[in-house]
Amino acid sequence: MSGLLSGSRTAVNPLRQLTIDQLRKRTSLKWREYPDDVLPLWVAEMDVPLAEPVARAITDAVARGDTGYTAGTAYPQAVAEFAARRWGWDGLAVERTALVPDVMHGVVEALRLVTEPGDAVVVNCPVYPPFYESVAHADRRIVEAPLGEDLRIDLDALEDAFRRARAGGRPAAYLLCSPHNPTGVVHSAAELTAVAGLAQRHGVRVVADEIHAPVVAEGARFVPYLSVPGAENGLSLMSASKGWNLAGLRGGLLVAGPAAAGDLARVPFGVSVSTSHLGVIAHTAAFRDGGEWLDALLTGLDDNRRLLTALLAEHLPAVRYQPGQATYLAWLDCRALGLGDDPAAVFLDRGRVALTSGLAFGTGGGGHVRLNLATAPELITEAVRRMTSAID
Ligand SMILES: Cc1ncc(COP(=O)(O)O)c(C=O)c1O
Repeated sequence: MSGLLSGSRTAVNPLRQLTIDQLRKRTSLKWREYPDDVLPLWVAEMDVPLAEPVARAITDAVARGDTGYTAGTAYPQAVAEFAARRWGWDGLAVERTALVPDVMHGVVEALRLVTEPGDAVVVNCPVYPPFYESVAHADRRIVEAPLGEDLRIDLDALEDAFRRARAGGRPAAYLLCSPHNPTGVVHSAAELTAVAGLAQRHGVRVVADEIHAPVVAEGARFVPYLSVPGAENGLSLMSASKGWNLAGLRGGLLVAGPAAAGDLARVPFGVSVSTSHLGVIAHTAAFRDGGEWLDALLTGLDDNRRLLTALLAEHLPAVRYQPGQATYLAWLDCRALGLGDDPAAVFLDRGRVALTSGLAFGTGGGGHVRLNLATAPELITEAVRRMTSAID
């Protein structure tokens, strides 16, 4: 295990660089929510050192005293170039973007652009819990379109939800999570094209949260929603927050399709100017110069998915786990363990391991837990040992 700023140049696995003692000194949410005898594999933070190009960009900015209000287009330019390099998509137009303080603020702003208070927002449950809180906070109401048994978007359920959402002719939005948190499913081009077609037919506006897009498994290909035919009036949210662990250096980008440029023009000035300048510097450096570090991370996550699969097969064969094609989250179906609706509470209480309870993810989340794989392999092994001890 090496120093805090190592990383991209040596392309070593960033998930193997920090010891548990180093991690316990962290003051962020993941490491401070629970007492020290609990192993925390819950909230979406990664146990990695900061990528060297990001660390350098912000330390240089601090050395310059460059801590004023943010300006310029370096962030959208870096995302556009990343999108062209990684996803073969050259449709991200810098002039159709707006800085937002973070992705969830961007989601709320996007929903405000396309719906009015009281209107419906469709989500694919089980899904990232703050979708529910943010929609409620924005005075909109949730309409659930449950995922299919295979954890993919169920187009019939989606169409039914679109009909209910648009009842009475009111505007409605669809908050798409792409890739999907918590399942790690990467939606295919065919699925996204079908989604765009349905949205067009029913007059529903699509807001795609693509925060996990950089974090894909070997062999998976992320498809930007705005790249599919029919998605021209869509909005998307992007960020380096998940791919490079920058939640503490907040910053997001709202991207509009060609037919949504007029909506984007209504984003209040105060929203973009509230984005952290240091955050923008960090996110820009990640997208522009953090590719090698990201590749090393993705290889480490592939290993961790395989490790978890093997450990569960050996020690907890009743737990169902379909490894995701993206994100560093593992969605575990624990219903066969007979621990009731909230197995995370049992694992915490008896096993001293903190996972995220499936209950908060909406309909279909009961009996499930979400485990954060972005940690050292030894800590994944220890987490499964603790889970096993909780049911013995
Ligand atoms: C799907 C999704 N959207 C948004 C966020 C939060 O993003 P931000 O911290 O930029 O608001 C997360 C964090 O895990 C997430 O998983």
